[in-house]
Amino acid sequence: MTTSPTRVLVPRVVALVPAAGQGVRLAAGMPKAFVSLRGRPLIWHCVQGLVASGCVEVVVVAVDEHHHDHARAALAEAGCRVRIVTGGAHRAASVRAALCAVPDAEVVLVHDAARCLTPVSVIQAVAQAVLAGQRAVVPVLPVADTIKQVDSDGRVLGTVDRAALRVVQTPQGFAGDLLRRAHQAPCAPVTDDAGLVEALGVTVATLPGHPHAFKITTPFDLAVAEVVAGGRVAGQA
Ligand code: CTP
Ligand code: MG
Repeated sequence: MTTSPTRVLVPRVVALVPAAGQGVRLAAGMPKAFVSLRGRPLIWHCVQGLVASGCVEVVVVAVDEHHHDHARAALAEAGCRVRIVTGGAHRAASVRAALCAVPDAEVVLVHDAARCLTPVSVIQAVAQAVLAGQRAVVPVLPVADTIKQVDSDGRVLGTVDRAALRVVQTPQGFAGDLLRRAHQAPCAPVTDDAGLVEALGVTVATLPGHPHAFKITTPFDLAVAEVVAGGRVAGQA
């Protein structure tokens, strides 16, 4: 009798969730990921959206070292494989810690815990774009406000052409090998993962984001999120 070699199953889509920030601007007395929205922590809403997309097999959540138990309790019945790791001093370090905890994957999504109301349709579109062959994809929205460039004293230097600008959201999707390479390369500080990929000279594609994928940063944003989530409960969004 011949035995077949052990098959190593590579997950197609994994999601990394940086959730180790302190939420200084929200000033809720706890890390932002654990602040309550409609009775559940933001991290629960975020992972719930990833699971509801139906395309994510493994979720790795990076939290600060004191919140492992808290995260485990919040995500106990998440409905998919969830790993919890300790994040780092800045967002990129938290993403890197999560990336180190996952096996190779065809597609890696990086999704801010703070964008916990991102519609399932955006998550699916990003994952599908990478599965279809894009190497790096970010959801974007047009800029609605007029944008001015100012000097260090706040004097206007000029008006930027907003037609060429986009607001960038998450999840950002990458071919797994590319994201690993991007996080290994030395780079100036960036605020998103696409920035690391851009530094490698790789083209980043865009697709339409959604207003509900906004980042909860301030108490005002949390108040808006309560309204948006309330509409969802009422079946409006
Ligand atoms: N993040 C992280 N690790 C850090 C800093 C941020 O995982 N060291 C995560 C946050 O938890 C959040 C996302 O990155 O989900 C976006 O960061 P931001 O909105 O700035 O969140 P905070 O850093 O928590 O907020 P603040 O800057 O107001 O303290
Ligand atoms: Mg921050």
